[in-house]
Amino acid sequence: MDRLATIRPYRLGHDTEEACRLEAAAFTEDYRRMGEDPRLESKRERNMERLIVWISRAIPALRLSRLGYVVEQDRRMASIVLFARDGLKGTCWSIDAVGTHPDFQRRGLAKRLLGRVFESIREHGGESCTLKVRRDNAAAYRLYQALGFTHFHTSHQMRRVGGSTKKGRASHVDGLGSIDQGAWYALWRERLALSVRTTPSHVLEYKPVAESDFRRSWLIRVLGPWAMKLGGCRFSQWIVRKEGRLVATLRTRADLTGNRSHEIRLSIDPDWRSELADPLVQMACDYLEKFASKGTLIEVGGQETALLNALTDKGFEDISVWHWLGVSVDQAIEALREHESGLDNVTV
Ligand SMILES: CC(C)(COP(=O)(O)OP(=O)(O)OC[C@H]1O[C@@H](n2cnc3c(N)ncnc32)[C@H](O)[C@@H]1OP(=O)(O)O)[C@@H](O)C(=O)NCCC(=O)NCCS
Repeated sequence: MDRLATIRPYRLGHDTEEACRLEAAAFTEDYRRMGEDPRLESKRERNMERLIVWISRAIPALRLSRLGYVVEQDRRMASIVLFARDGLKGTCWSIDAVGTHPDFQRRGLAKRLLGRVFESIREHGGESCTLKVRRDNAAAYRLYQALGFTHFHTSHQMRRVGGSTKKGRASHVDGLGSIDQGAWYALWRERLALSVRTTPSHVLEYKPVAESDFRRSWLIRVLGPWAMKLGGCRFSQWIVRKEGRLVATLRTRADLTGNRSHEIRLSIDPDWRSELADPLVQMACDYLEKFASKGTLIEVGGQETALLNALTDKGFEDISVWHWLGVSVDQAIEALREHESGLDNVTV
């Protein structure tokens, strides 16, 4: 790593614009595949980060939902790593973004930053860490493998562009109902139980389903609609019950600005996937067609064959295959120490 390069913490709400510029330069391939314009992200991200800062005055644990370190070099942000604790409690953490500006790549910046990140995770009591990397991203894959990360899950990011789906309108689904945001929050226990049933056991080992992922404090419930407005989107949700039991949830995030993609989140009990995948995907597409957008995105686990088939049938294309990798924090720190001897010129 060059002299005069400085590592410092990411400043939430202040560094957003520069971070978005860096990410736009580093993640060109991801943005291209998703059809998104990264320049539009910075205002939305800054608003969201300011909201996190504000809410974390009342709920300090929320501050750990977005941490980061950056390298500054030649007065520019040269590299960034953003990371977060999974949920409000627990010892599992996620790395959300690792990016080095093309002008500064291959100088050891990402590795150095990851060293700082793992130290910070350990200081916060973290024991394990996960991230996802595009299967064909050889540079990043090599970096993570060198730190001891191993593959534990595969998911597919699917995208549909344009209007009506190939196959007609949604068929009737017994037990389907639309619910508002308040009812959605109130259902957290049942949604948690469904998530445990739908998540493969090999994923649960690395990313346990946590109560805090579903149970929301009153403050977050109150601020939810406001946050949505800031983000220029609208969430809508449906559930399916069979014999009184929650067997599927469908949530859409419609983009109201016309500049971004819509998003579908679908969770179906494995026993009901073959029956419900098709009509729920159709329903989500029909609903989202009301809003202009750049397309619709959904991420699906590699084991969810019925859902993947239903999406392909409705015109979705597989744009990225993601590999989910995990590592123990101690192991990553150990691996990084081995590399450290040649990287001690940095001003911190
Ligand atoms: C992946 C990325 C973050 C690496 O950043 P970097 O600062 O250049 O990485 P470093 O210089 O610290 O390299 C660390 C290791 O990564 C691997 N690596 C990095 N770039 C590589 C390349 N172009 N080809 C092969 N391996 C590469 C090497 O193992 C390297 O160690 P080595 O130099 O001792 O061989 C950077 O290429 C990037 O920003 N890519 C675009 C965004 C992205 O894909 N991010 C990852 C998302 S999961």
